Amino acid sequence: MSVGVVEFDNDHKKFIEILTELEIVLGAKRMERAKELGDALMALCHDHCAREKAFLERICYPNAEEILAAQQDSLARVQELIDQMSSPSDKAVLLAREMQKALIEYLLKGDINFKSYVEAFGYSDTNRS
Ligand SMILES: [Fe+2]
Repeated sequence: MSVGVVEFDNDHKKFIEILTELEIVLGAKRMERAKELGDALMALCHDHCAREKAFLERICYPNAEEILAAQQDSLARVQELIDQMSSPSDKAVLLAREMQKALIEYLLKGDINFKSYVEAFGYSDTNRS
């Protein structure tokens, strides 16, 4: 699912990679690796959200608030997942699985909505027709 900007598409792919590995690692109770992945996920989330916010401001995207709200929701979910990992339980595995669905939700409620604007105003680097 492309949002029309390669940089953000690559971030979203990285989110999926981390979450997929996180679910496996949590299932195997490899908590040290899970913590590393949790930290990497949070760092990527903050970095992605900041770059995306700056981009939306730069292109004067009119509905930035809904994207930023979806970002905040995702950050809160990632924090909840990390908090759960401090006391290993099956809930963390479920949360990691839920986060994968949450990412799709984030894309549908947030980023995918700026795709047509990005394309219409010539800011897309995935649609150069
Ligand atoms: Fe995004």
